[in-house]
Amino acid sequence: MDLRLLDAEPTDAERDAVDAFLGPPVSSWVGADAVQNGHSAHGGHAARAERHQLLPVLHALHERTGWVSPGALNHIARRLTVPPADVYGVATFYALFSLQERPPRVLHVCNDLVCRGAGSQALIDALTDEFGPEGSAHDAASWLPSPCLGQCDRAPAALLVQSGDEPLERALTAITSSDALAVLGGSTPAPPRSAVPPQAGAGELRLLPRVGVVDPESLDDYRAAGGYTALRRAFELGPDGVIRELADSKLLGRGGAAFPIGRKWEAVAHQPRRPHYLICNADESEPGTFKDRVILEGDPFSLIEAMTIAAYATGCERGYIYLRGEYPLAQRRLEHAIEQARERGLLGQDILGRGLHLEIELRKGAGAYICGEETALFASIEGYRGEPRNKPPFPVTHGLFGQPTVVNNVETLANVPAILLEGGAAFAAIGTERSTGPKLFCLCGSVTAPGVYEVALGTTLRELLELAGGVSEGSTLRGILLGGAAGSFVTPDDLDLRLTFEDTRAAATTLGSGVVMAIDDRVDLGELLMAIAAFFRDESCGQCVPCRVGTVRQEEALARLTTGRTRGTVADELALISEIGEAMRDASICGLGQTASSAIESAIARLAAFEGASP
Ligand SMILES: Cc1cc2nc3c(=O)[nH]c(=O)nc-3n(C[C@H](O)[C@H](O)[C@H](O)COP(=O)(O)O)c2cc1C
Ligand code: SF4
Ligand code: FES
Repeated sequence: MDLRLLDAEPTDAERDAVDAFLGPPVSSWVGADAVQNGHSAHGGHAARAERHQLLPVLHALHERTGWVSPGALNHIARRLTVPPADVYGVATFYALFSLQERPPRVLHVCNDLVCRGAGSQALIDALTDEFGPEGSAHDAASWLPSPCLGQCDRAPAALLVQSGDEPLERALTAITSSDALAVLGGSTPAPPRSAVPPQAGAGELRLLPRVGVVDPESLDDYRAAGGYTALRRAFELGPDGVIRELADSKLLGRGGAAFPIGRKWEAVAHQPRRPHYLICNADESEPGTFKDRVILEGDPFSLIEAMTIAAYATGCERGYIYLRGEYPLAQRRLEHAIEQARERGLLGQDILGRGLHLEIELRKGAGAYICGEETALFASIEGYRGEPRNKPPFPVTHGLFGQPTVVNNVETLANVPAILLEGGAAFAAIGTERSTGPKLFCLCGSVTAPGVYEVALGTTLRELLELAGGVSEGSTLRGILLGGAAGSFVTPDDLDLRLTFEDTRAAATTLGSGVVMAIDDRVDLGELLMAIAAFFRDESCGQCVPCRVGTVRQEEALARLTTGRTRGTVADELALISEIGEAMRDASICGLGQTASSAIESAIARLAAFEGASP
């Protein structure tokens, strides 16, 4: 490979940050000595095999210096033998990385769907008055708007990111303007708080029995509360027995695509090619979604146990948890849980003396919604831009690093211990014939008690809203966004809809990621739809034309409608939106483009979003 490096050199701090993460250069191929005339020619296979370290090393650098300078980029390119243009392409893909120098303290302020309703604009106005417009450097601090931070049950939310020798990341919830000004001014933020689900401690919970009840940092407490009995049961059943129980449970994946877990695990288990990889998808970036965060923060050992069972059944010796970059508390809890499990022989070599080997690595995303799509997630871990691949081939045969791979959502995995302990058939008796088991829903927006609720599939929308105390006092329900920005709106007339995969499909909506966002009559629907359109335009990876262009055209048409400057009549603009939606649905490579118009089209059709708009 002929690597054309830049002239720029890193500062000492940048070099230290990169080398502290990657270790000192071991060969002249990756050290400064090999560079002559801006070229580094070599055949270093070993160095190239380290490309998957690109995202983690960018994080390490960013935490220390707060940005990716040309010199630092050059140094990373040399160390990993990746062309600088590629490093640039990856670094610019992620919203949390900056390629411009910026102050060490940055506050990312959510101005997405729920936080808008909870007063994020007042927060933004106060920050603008004190620190200038978004992104402007003011002493040591700056602020930026952010899409949903996954804290919608405690809106408005912000994320403080502080770089330096002692970097700090802290989610700030139910934040006031004075809190935001103080933190950005340099005062120490309050310690992180885990969200306690409203049902904490209630009996009959399968997914949340320990959340808010058991210390998430104590392996002993987890075991005392029944932890690791499911892994012992798995050893009794053997790998085929585990897969049989899962098939009997009829559990469908909770990450959005509703694929049967038993079939997925069986397909990977039977692949002769080795190694097999296991991935827990904890990217959770769908606006309005925070259910996985509650498990990750509140019951991290259960995820490690479930992944160990998955690895045993499917023959994986290496697992990854791909965690969204904006969940610092979940990151800390998971790192701690992995370390504890390893120390106690529950991860690593020969787990519990059963000949099972498993290492789990935490990989942190960096602000890219598309990386939740499983093939984009592979690309991200491998050190490429998070761009989805065409399927087939499917991950079960050609996944991470081209190898057979199991990818499951956090909530899907959280069901596994319960299935093994009560048996697949008993589990299948919960819910309906085709939608079995419990399900987590994220109740947010105009509800009295927002939070994550666990109910059996088949519960109606009305029952679920009642569980959350009903619609907020003094407001009238206008619609409910089901499934998040990629989902669709239903109306108050649909409250008797049973929440199952089959009922929602028949009603032309979706369970999606479990979002149930109540919208009341005070919400400016046009503004809300603009926020959804802007989200998809921003998050499109840009790889395929229908989505890259369609999401822009959709936003433009909505902007014309909301400002009353239509081209032709309102009906012409609505017809255009429908046509764009059809093209994106039919011709986009992945689910992002295929669903980018569904909430908008459903609001137009069911909530009469632009009825009476002029001209
Ligand atoms: C744009 C897009 C974003 C996605 N984001 C997530 C996510 O954040 N978490 C998740 O588990 N699945 C997400 N998915 C679905 C995954 O591709 C995949 O189907 C899922 O992780 C499989 O796990 P499951 O079978 O347990 O549901 C996303 C899909 C698309 C198209
Ligand atoms: S549909 Fe959108 S996000 Fe998906 S691959 Fe195409 S451009 Fe990328
Ligand atoms: S955290 Fe603000 S909308 Fe979700």
